[in-house]
Amino acid sequence: MRSIKRREFLGLSAGATTAILLSQCSKAQTQGSTASPTLLQGRVINSQGGLLSLDLEANVQAVSLGDRRANLLAFNGQLPGPRLEAKPGDTVQIRFTNRLNQPTNLHYHGLHITPQGNADNVFLSVPPGERLTYEFTLPADHPAGTFWYHPHHHGHVAEQVFGGLAGLFTVRGELDEVPEIKAAQEAFVVLQDFDITSAGAIAAPDMMARMVGREGPLIIVNGQLNPELPLAQGGLLRLRLLNASPSRFYRLQLEGHSLHLVATDGGAIATPVELSELLLAPGERAEVLVQGNREPNQYRLLNLPYDRGGMMMGGGGMGGMGMGGMMGQGSSVAATQTLATVTYRGSVAVLPLPQQLGTVELLPNPTLSRRIEFNMAMGPGMSMAFLFNGKTFDAQRIDIASKLNTVEEWELVNVDPDRMDHPFHLHVNPFQVISRNGQPEPYQAWKDTVLVKGNETVRIRIPFRTFTGKTVYHCHILDHEDLGMMGTVNIQPA
Ligand code: C2O
Ligand code: CU
Ligand code: CU
Repeated sequence: MRSIKRREFLGLSAGATTAILLSQCSKAQTQGSTASPTLLQGRVINSQGGLLSLDLEANVQAVSLGDRRANLLAFNGQLPGPRLEAKPGDTVQIRFTNRLNQPTNLHYHGLHITPQGNADNVFLSVPPGERLTYEFTLPADHPAGTFWYHPHHHGHVAEQVFGGLAGLFTVRGELDEVPEIKAAQEAFVVLQDFDITSAGAIAAPDMMARMVGREGPLIIVNGQLNPELPLAQGGLLRLRLLNASPSRFYRLQLEGHSLHLVATDGGAIATPVELSELLLAPGERAEVLVQGNREPNQYRLLNLPYDRGGMMMGGGGMGGMGMGGMMGQGSSVAATQTLATVTYRGSVAVLPLPQQLGTVELLPNPTLSRRIEFNMAMGPGMSMAFLFNGKTFDAQRIDIASKLNTVEEWELVNVDPDRMDHPFHLHVNPFQVISRNGQPEPYQAWKDTVLVKGNETVRIRIPFRTFTGKTVYHCHILDHEDLGMMGTVNIQPA
């Protein structure tokens, strides 16, 4: 009861605003401790009577970012796009219109749905000015979790996601019914970065920035700069985090507080895991609980410096440094940044952490093993090609043929001579990480995106379930995907 009320409160404050409110935040951020606006939760579109039905439009949208005006790309004029919410077994109908000046489409990242027809089919193309109705049904046993949607038209993915096109897709279920989770105050946190020119356009990356993976210096949370996250002393805050940036990594830490991990990409883990910091690669999600067990005060949610490798390429933050940047450290951020501020407000009787969240099934031994090497090589001219097993993406070629109702183990080997991080992502079927460099994972979790650092070998186990058809796996540094680091998997009937 209590948690529903809190949720409505957040929803109401968001509902009162039309679209994107960013300008009033810039002062608060530069002045430090003065009040920032409360984190907005944006519009939510819920399923009703088993149907989630909506119109969705991708368009250019003028917004205020800090002290600047910018023309970004948005779903239904909102940044991030509306949050879609459904339950296992629901049918989803999205009447999509492309009002961009280039082709696009939609992908439902993390959902276990069919890759065929007008569903999670990234081979579809919606030309400028045209419409397409997406329709799919969530399996009745679909796990609860934090998923998301974004464009997936090969060659335009990084550009369109960097423009702002991303939205949450949540599935409610068992995890939401755990009493301690239910009692927690829920806050969705969508992390995006932008690079805006003085003319208010999205900066076009040069070839070097594309090879590193484009990043922008302006980081916003649910479309806001350094918003405030209220927390009652004694209370619990459930942060549902999404890295919706095309290339930027977020290494999150909350001053004075541990983060208690309760869910990963694919939903609940078995028991909470206490973390002092959390690394989110592009595409990854995590849910953490924060206990209001400190002195009432303000605590910053920090983004700590992170080096994502790439000695030759230099870092993402080298814009304007010219070729000198090539020798620099490959680092997402030069300095620690403040993303949001947790502010104690009021107090409640102490809410405990949950003990048990769910069960993560133990997968059987694989029937088949494969090895996928991540690499890059010189392409035409000065360009680089990003490769899986020596090949660049070809939508017509089948790279992997898998059988429905089997379990496979994939050995992901990063042999990139530049030792860049490559977050690996698979559509349709979530997987479990078995080991990293031969070391078993400390706990079991369902993932759809896993970081494979330079020189690392990560073994994942994938059960191919429910759906046949052709889909993809790729690096979720979206420039790498657009530059060829993607393969096809065709799931054939058993
Ligand atoms: Cu989030 Cu194939 O992508
Ligand atoms: Cu995806
Ligand atoms: Cu990559």
